Amino acid sequence: MTGGAGGLGREVACGLAEFGAGVIIADQDRTGLAEVKNRLDDMGCEVLALELDVTDRDSVERAAGTVVQEYGKLDILVNAAGINLRKPVMDLSEDEWDRIIDINLKGTYLCCKIMGARMVRQNRGKIINFGSVSSVLGHPEHSAYAASKGGVLLFTKVLAMEWARNNINVNAIGPAYIETALTRDYLSSEGNYEKIARSIPMGRLGSPSDVVGAVIYLSSSASDFVTGSILMVDGGRTAD
Ligand SMILES: NC(=O)c1ccc[n+]([C@@H]2O[C@H](COP(=O)([O-])OP(=O)(O)OC[C@H]3O[C@@H](n4cnc5c(N)ncnc54)[C@H](O)[C@@H]3O)[C@@H](O)[C@H]2O)c1
Repeated sequence: MTGGAGGLGREVACGLAEFGAGVIIADQDRTGLAEVKNRLDDMGCEVLALELDVTDRDSVERAAGTVVQEYGKLDILVNAAGINLRKPVMDLSEDEWDRIIDINLKGTYLCCKIMGARMVRQNRGKIINFGSVSSVLGHPEHSAYAASKGGVLLFTKVLAMEWARNNINVNAIGPAYIETALTRDYLSSEGNYEKIARSIPMGRLGSPSDVVGAVIYLSSSASDFVTGSILMVDGGRTAD
């Protein structure tokens, strides 16, 4: 899983491990990777930690090569690497726009294409891409993020169509706000936490465990007839 050192990625990695999966955590954050690897080692999980830049094709190809060399197969790919910058579009530089699109959208494309090639050869696989409520809602100050996450959703649908006959399920999940490094600065500013909680019909933010359950479902045979979907994990935020 990419973004395996991140706030959601690490919980998903541990959740998959609890269900008996061997887990490959891939991230550009070396320190975070070591922390998560220790946690998974303590759980007795078979774990491989790989440094990876999802925007760099060579890096993704090297990671795919290592996975195949070590395991000879790849059952599940979770694309959770992502960044955001909250700024009005007039203040967002072209470089910032490119960086967000590169990591969130192009990174998902590269990982799906390169890791998915292995799944096509196996004629089997599960891919779960991290979208967001921003895949379907136009929040102010999220221009590049929403463009990238909307792109992730439609890219997911296209791959689901292209690989349906290859026995590969390609789905996305769409979390609402969950407190991680991605959202912490914003949520810690006066009143923002409460404002977000009020905007969610269930009256609270999500927790990483809410996302874990969704990923486990989409990784398991329980979702074998589900493809091209986005499973919103948002307390009803996008229900109306
Ligand atoms: N936290 C939320 O509220 C929320 C809501 C909706 C969607 N999401 C999505 O969930 C995913 C995980 O987010 P999170 O909350 O865990 O954020 P996070 O910042 O805690 O984790 C993101 C991880 O991605 C890694 N990463 C960034 N650029 C990378 C690159 N080029 N190559 C490899 N790894 C890279 C970071 O090192 C980090 O470990 C993201 O795609 C995010 O957009 C999060």
